[in-house]
Amino acid sequence: MRVFTIAALLLASAPGLPALAADGEDVYSSVCRKCHRTGIDDAPKAGDKAAWAPRVALGREALVKSVIDGKGAMDPRGGKPELTDEEIRAAVDYLLGLVK
Ligand code: HEC
Repeated sequence: MRVFTIAALLLASAPGLPALAADGEDVYSSVCRKCHRTGIDDAPKAGDKAAWAPRVALGREALVKSVIDGKGAMDPRGGKPELTDEEIRAAVDYLLGLVK
């Protein structure tokens, strides 16, 4: 019984731990997709090469910074302040991977 309690405590504290390898697709699906799948508010659509070309030209780090700081109709960190820089970087890499 005690083992279960300890396991439950460990699980409960897990969200507070720094994310290990962030999964860009997961972050995209849970936070970014609602705007970037359909292009709400002129968000560049995921996988749309023409829409992404001028953004790609800004470079990965500038894009990561845009997401962290927010840009236009996109709130800082895609509207999810809990996201770590690493998770944002992973999601940007995922989006860039779709338009390679
Ligand atoms: C509320 C809708 C919304 C959400 C949620 C959102 N975005 Fe955006 N995103 C936008 C819009 C709108 C733009 C276009 C901003 C502009 O250029 O004015 C944009 C632009 C971008 C750009 C290009 C930035 C640049 O400098 O040109 C990147 C990269 C990006 N989003 C990634 C993400 C990632 C990664 C997430 C999830 C963590 C995310 N977005 C969540 C709406 C959203």
